[in-house]
Amino acid sequence: MKSIRTLIKEKPWVGWLLFVATVIVVFLLGLLASEITERRAEAVYVNKPKVEISDYEPRNEVWGANYPKQFQSYMKTRDTSFRSKYNGSAFIDELEEDPRLVILWAGYGFSKEYNQGRGHYYAIKDIREILRTGAPIGERESPMPNTCWTCKSPDVPRVMNEVGVAEFYKGSWEERGHQIVNPIGCADCHNPETMNLRITRPALIEAFQRQGKDVKNASHQEMRTLVCAQCHVEYYFKGEGKYLTFPWDNGTKPEEIEAYYDETGFYDWIHPISKAPMLKAQHPGYEVFTTGIHYDRGVSCADCHMPYHSEGGQKFTNHHMQSPLNNISESCQVCHRQSEEKLLQNVYNKQKSVRETRFKLEDALVKAHIEAGEAWDAGATEKEMKPILTAIRHAQWRWDYAAAGHGNSFHSALELSRTMASGLDAVQEARLLLARILTKYGVEQPVTMPDISTKAKAQEYVGWNMEKLNRQKEKFLEEVVPQWVEKAAQREKEWGVDRL
Ligand code: HEC
Ligand code: HEC
Ligand code: HEC
Ligand code: HEC
Repeated sequence: MKSIRTLIKEKPWVGWLLFVATVIVVFLLGLLASEITERRAEAVYVNKPKVEISDYEPRNEVWGANYPKQFQSYMKTRDTSFRSKYNGSAFIDELEEDPRLVILWAGYGFSKEYNQGRGHYYAIKDIREILRTGAPIGERESPMPNTCWTCKSPDVPRVMNEVGVAEFYKGSWEERGHQIVNPIGCADCHNPETMNLRITRPALIEAFQRQGKDVKNASHQEMRTLVCAQCHVEYYFKGEGKYLTFPWDNGTKPEEIEAYYDETGFYDWIHPISKAPMLKAQHPGYEVFTTGIHYDRGVSCADCHMPYHSEGGQKFTNHHMQSPLNNISESCQVCHRQSEEKLLQNVYNKQKSVRETRFKLEDALVKAHIEAGEAWDAGATEKEMKPILTAIRHAQWRWDYAAAGHGNSFHSALELSRTMASGLDAVQEARLLLARILTKYGVEQPVTMPDISTKAKAQEYVGWNMEKLNRQKEKFLEEVVPQWVEKAAQREKEWGVDRL
């Protein structure tokens, strides 16, 4: 083999070729180095704070100036286009989908309007627009207390800090309408100085305290679940002051919470048809999640609902909290090697089988309420009805505990099936007793059921004047809400923004 030197002597163009190739390689290396430095500078620039963020800053866009990637991904919770088989961010009118719910919640706000939850961005808009908060104008109050605002906005910790926690909950919902205007956001979960996760809702801290636990001792991984447990939980409004309380003193299983409510004689409303003292489950997301395999293996809510995402060479936590099925590659396949189709099938199979049992229990509950109504009409006594009403209360509580927590038929299908099996037991007992009483009072069986094939028919049957409710709401949205918005804008203008 000839040496390069001899080769170049014989064929000078080879020398030139080598020279040009070297120049090109050096140029490309230089380009790469400059690209890397630029990206680094960009990263430093991105992380350099631009504005001062005070401890109770409720405006997400102010935090967004310092943390644009997280803010931009948070803003994607505005997107309502994704729909999975049963959930997603799209608007779903749950009463229209399943008019039996109107009978189960007759006499209670939920039978006026109940929709599938959507992104955090809509928290304020949705609580103003839902018929459950009523149309407070002039002397007319909202049927709901101020406590209702608690899981909607980072203005909540701000106002709690100003007026005190117990004071915050007191009074009617419209009183704080001008104060609570920014949707769920940064200040709900972050300490602005360190950006560490923090718990801002007293109810969670207090529930832990009553169990002898200190939230401050939670590990980093636990915090990635507990920030969500501030809101995605079962709760109730305790006593005259409507103090927000998590009913966990006996434990978080449905039977344990039920025993807690029974001991204190608490009920949310009296069912107008059966006269049973009812409980409304809120959304025991965290409680049910802790009975599932993922919690057992140390997986957090954020692992699936806020997976890491890379963009422009930067890795950050995706703040577009949504159905993980819209992003399986980043939310599930980080841990699972199965195909997307396989994982989807796993989720849908669980959801489908839980729904099957749920609908059986729902059918039986509708019948139990209406049969109990017949029994009263036929002359049944309080004493005869008491064990029946308790059984209906327990059966519906267990149904609601299983139905209300969003995503739980995936989070822990087994626990929901167990819960609903015990609900089926209770409702069967109620209907057995009812059959005896109805026979005793000479009522022919089976009792005829009303036509509740649509939401409108069911709402008419339970006695709501929907046209009037909707008209009042429209007026409230046109006349009252703009005043709240105006007052809030004035306040925030006075705060300004401190640029660094
Ligand atoms: C519901 C709770 C929640 C809300 C609301 C929230 N975050 Fe986060 N944020 C988290 C979690 C969980 C993490 C991951 C923290 C960890 O594992 O250390 C995180 C991480 C971060 C980080 C650290 C860097 C990263 O990407 O991991 C920044 C910065 C951040 N969030 C900014 C924001 C901003 C800005 C907002 C408002 C637009 C916001 N967050 C709203 C829960 C929240
Ligand atoms: C301050 C209370 C609060 C906190 C904290 C909170 N959420 Fe929510 N979340 C809500 C409310 C309220 C809604 C429903 C908003 C609506 O429908 O207008 C919601 C909706 C959702 C949805 C449905 C979104 C969709 O597109 O269907 C998901 C998923 C979700 N939250 C996950 C989480 C996770 C995960 C955490 C913790 C990292 C968390 N949330 C923390 C109150 C909260
Ligand atoms: C941080 C890791 C992690 C993530 C993210 C994760 N999983 Fe899992 N998953 C696990 C572990 C660990 C188990 C338990 C398996 C074992 O120990 O054999 C499990 C179990 C399962 C199982 C079988 C157990 C059962 O009860 O059926 C299914 C199905 C499953 N995961 C689906 C999903 C889906 C769908 C997603 C995304 C929405 C997901 N997982 C996200 C870690 C994860
Ligand atoms: C292993 C992954 C995983 C973990 C961990 C997890 N989830 Fe989910 N979550 C899911 C899946 C899958 C769904 C079903 C989404 C669907 O049907 O579109 C879901 C649904 C939801 C929904 C309803 C979303 C919608 O589209 O309406 C909410 C709210 C929610 N989860 C909150 C939580 C909270 C709060 C925690 C922690 C206490 C948690 N999740 C932990 C995978 C997970």
